[in-house]
Amino acid sequence: MYSYHSTTPSVRLTTARQVVRLVHQRDAQRLADYYRENRSYLQPWEPIRDETHCQASGWQLRLEIITDMQQQGSAYYFILLDPDEQEVHGVANFTNVLRGVFHACHLGYSLAEQKQGQGLMHEALQAAIRYMQRQQRMHRIMAGYMPHNQRSGALLARLGFEREGYARDYLLINGKWRDHVLMALTNDQWQPAR
Ligand SMILES: CC(C)(COP(=O)(O)OP(=O)(O)OC[C@H]1O[C@@H](n2cnc3c(N)ncnc32)[C@H](O)[C@@H]1OP(=O)(O)O)[C@@H](O)C(=O)NCCC(=O)NCCS
Repeated sequence: MYSYHSTTPSVRLTTARQVVRLVHQRDAQRLADYYRENRSYLQPWEPIRDETHCQASGWQLRLEIITDMQQQGSAYYFILLDPDEQEVHGVANFTNVLRGVFHACHLGYSLAEQKQGQGLMHEALQAAIRYMQRQQRMHRIMAGYMPHNQRSGALLARLGFEREGYARDYLLINGKWRDHVLMALTNDQWQPAR
């Protein structure tokens, strides 16, 4: 169902309706456009973004740092695209990757406003999570959502994430510390490296 064309840092997964691949330096303009076009829609769910988030020059700098992190194996930033790789559907980021006795990371994601309600994030995350579990050998993937973010909660539940707790004033979202429901997906098939 999915194909793995190469290993990190140029990972490109194909799903039924999308290309889900790691970002690279040439994505600066399309990422700036995505955040500019969806700015007001994403605002209630995300940290306060400065102007550089909507500018290609800002993303060029950010992508340099992200590329370094991807090469070091400490974060994996996926972009969700249509099959022709012209239209950005959304983003899904696996960050704070730790290995050793933890083998865990955090997951964050967003879709373009016009792309909600079509199962696109679910489809993309199935592929990206499979990559993170199999190729990056993550044992635990953690994600949190604000209690009123029902779409996010439903998405995580459908992916098999289980509720682990409730954290007061957990993340600084849109300028305020907000409570979050803490969810995690653990990989029962985890194997040590050979
Ligand atoms: C959270 C977010 C990604 C969820 O988007 P979404 O489109 O609801 O997620 P999914 O990909 O799981 O799609 C599920 C929806 O598609 C529908 N759907 C349509 N076709 C489908 C298909 N082929 N397969 C699965 N679902 C399908 C489902 O019925 C469901 O819609 P409903 O909730 O109206 O019933 C999106 O709302 C978003 O980006 N929000 C803003 C940012 C944000 O909150 N980020 C997360 C912070 S924790």
